[in-house]
Formats: sequence, C-alpha cells, structure tokens
Amino acid sequence: MIMKVTKTNRILGDIYISGSKNAALPCICCALLTKQKVILQNIPDIEDVRNLLIIIKKLGVKVKRQNNEIILSSKHLKSEVMNEVVSKLRGSYYLMGVLLARTSKVRMLYPGGCNLGERPIDYHLSGFEQLGFKVTKEKEFIEIKAEQKEGGIVTFPDISLGATINVIFAAVLLKGITIINNPSLEPEVLCVINMLTKMGANIKVEDQQVIIVGVKKLTGTTHQNIYDRIEAGSYMLLAGVVPNSRVVLHNANLEHLELIITVLRKMGIKITKNQDSLVVEGTNKIHKANILIGPYPFFPTDLQQILTVVLTKASGTSTIEDPVFPSRIAHLKELRKMGAYVYEDKGIIYIKESKIKSAKVQATDLRCAFGLIVAGAIANGNTYIKDIDYLFRGYEKPIEKLKAIGINVQII
Ligand code: EPU
Repeated sequence: MIMKVTKTNRILGDIYISGSKNAALPCICCALLTKQKVILQNIPDIEDVRNLLIIIKKLGVKVKRQNNEIILSSKHLKSEVMNEVVSKLRGSYYLMGVLLARTSKVRMLYPGGCNLGERPIDYHLSGFEQLGFKVTKEKEFIEIKAEQKEGGIVTFPDISLGATINVIFAAVLLKGITIINNPSLEPEVLCVINMLTKMGANIKVEDQQVIIVGVKKLTGTTHQNIYDRIEAGSYMLLAGVVPNSRVVLHNANLEHLELIITVLRKMGIKITKNQDSLVVEGTNKIHKANILIGPYPFFPTDLQQILTVVLTKASGTSTIEDPVFPSRIAHLKELRKMGAYVYEDKGIIYIKESKIKSAKVQATDLRCAFGLIVAGAIANGNTYIKDIDYLFRGYEKPIEKLKAIGINVQII
C-alpha cells in the first residue's frame, strides 16, 4: 500500500486519542486467565488487535466485538498456538504466560512484530525457568511445561515490559508468593495489574518489585483500557512541527505524558493543559535537544523516530540516544532520501537542521510510518510512502484522524 502525503501549511482541529495498543494486547490475553466473561472497553480497532483476536478464537475463546468494546469468554482453552498469525505480532507472546497459568503447558510458534533489530524473548523464557517451568526451544516453536506449581523469585537483567507482564500472568495462579525484581512499571503494566486486581489477583508494587500472592482462581470483570500515550505523543509532535497549527487532543492522559510535554515545551512547542484536553500549537522555531530514551518515566522509545523528523527543523545539531532499541534506525535512511542530515554513530542519532524535500520513501515499521507522514507534511510537494500498511498495526483510524486536522493524505 502506498500513501501520498502533500505538504501542509497549517493543521487545525481535534484529535480523539484511542486506547493504548501496548496495554490492549496484554489486557485481551489477561481475559483468558478466567473462565468467566470479561468485558474490555477502549480497545483500539487496529491490525495487531484484530490479529490477536484471530489467534485466541482458534484457541477456543468466544469473542464478541462492538466498536471499542470486546466481550471475551474463555471456558475451554487449547494449549497449542501454532497459527501462523502468531508471527505477525509481538504481543502474541503474552499467550505463553496465560496458557501456562490456565493449562500448565504451551506450545507456540515464535512471536513476530515490527523489525527493530534483534527482538529476543530470552527474558520471558528465563523468567518462566526461574519460576520452575521447563522451556524447550525447537527450531519452529517453543514448548513450556509446568513441572511444579509454586511461585518463586524472578530477577530480570534489564527492564522489559513484555517479560514483566508475561511472568505476572504465569505466576498469578501459582501457589505461594512470586517476587519480580527489576520489573517494568510502565503505565501499560500498571493497567494490566489493575485489571488482574479486579479479577481477584493479589498483586502489590513496592520498592521496584512486583509481589504476587497466588490465588486459586480469577473471576470475570469489566475493565477500561488506558489511552495511548504514544498515539498522543505522535500527534503532539506532528502538530508541533507545522507552524501556526492548533490541535486539541482529547482523552490524553496528562500524567502519562508529563515528560513528553516537558521535552516538547523545551523544544519550543506550545502546549496548554486544559481540564480534559491538551492544546498543542505548532512553531517555526524548534529548539535543538539532546534526548535520552528509556523506560517510563523517561522519553519513550516508540516516539524516537517521529522525534527525529521534528528535530530536523531545529537549528544546530540534536542528538537522541535510545538504549532500549538501539537498532530502531531504519527510518534514517528514508529520511536521508528526503534531504535530512541524520545519521547514527556508536548508538547516538545525530540530527542536523535540514530542508526536508518530498521523495519516494518506504515505511520500515509502525513508528517509522508515522514519522514519514510527519516528514511528508513538512516537505514541499508530494511524498509517496511505500509499505504504509505498518501504520494500521498500531494507529486507529489514522487516515480519518489525519484528514480531520487537515493533513492531505491519500492511499493510492
Ligand atoms: N529484551 C531482551 N529480551 C527479552 C525482552 C526484551 O533482550 O526477552 C530487550 C529488548 O530487545 C529491548 C528491551 O529489552 O532492548 C526492552 O524491550 P521490552 O521487552 O520492554 O519491549 P517489548 O515488550 O518487546 C513493548 C512494546 C513495544 C515498545 C516496548 C518498550 C508491545 C507489543 N510492544 O515491546 O512497542 O517499544 O515495549 O516500551 O507491547 C511500538 O509500539 O512501536 C513497539 C515496538
């Protein structure tokens, strides 16, 4: 799929932020931890969610979907996840933890996801092993079995959102206490813990540890997914880099966006917090910045590529260091085709002030896709983005939302 983006002089209007992708995927899997009915609200209609629903239906889950609400009922579950859709999304890895809890074993194809360099699942597997599960890695699939059913201590070498949630899923129905050291405590993890607590789980977060006291069973619940801080940040960056723009963001969670707001303000983008909205005003004077990416509350890795585009408008040289996904740099080559002076050296991305011109480029992953749309909106002429399909994996109704604020985009 190719998208044509035409230069935009000013963007005006309202954006309604959708439910978080990275919380929706584990919340959907979390619903499988009970035989009872679970109602999930604010689930974005995106490709990753649609693919996950295909997989869980094959596992035996009954799924009813109406707009952004999903009703799930998981009375009987198979423990084999050999559907090739698994390799289309990374979030399918949550089925490992969930099936271990429900069926004590799982056999699953390797999960896929956006190509951001190497994306191992060793922390997940080592977490399961630390809990006493037996992990066997075959060429095509992974098999994990419960040899005993008691909690234990899991220590992660580094912070991982996915591995933290996966180990919580595997541990929540085990006997006794599980302690997770060095967990991710990103808002998406807390959203899942909150859902589990409503389902009857006993989970505490204390001193950078997650403490889980195992319970015998979990019950159904109704849970509202959090709003997507990355989608909010994406539109904030877009509005901020087009001079004289004024975009009102609704549903943005201000607490989750605190550091993003601080960084963007320092870059010269005017952001006003209202009671239930955020007003972002674009500037023609972006200030240079030196940004260190990290797990929340640091600046998020998922906005790195879009931030790169915005910093091409800053005078002087800006830098971004992303130790979370240092190989998430495929966008740099595409931006160079548009005249951007951007390169990476020893883990640091250097961005010099550049005149961005339209070109034929290729999206290499989800956030690169959005970044190239931002580049297209500020480049003279028409920009053609090949493989824009990635965008639909994680942004809900992007064409409608972009058009609503006056960005001229078209799928050709
Ligand atoms: N890591 C390992 N081994 C593992 C797991 C992670 O080495 O077993 C490393 C990763 O390579 C990375 C770091 O640990 O360097 C952090 O990875 P993390 O596990 O936190 O990321 P993830 O669970 O694979 C989720 C999101 C990503 C988001 C990251 C960080 C989903 C499905 N994906 O990935 O979302 O970038 O957390 O917040 O939830 C995106 O939305 O564009 C996206 C890529």
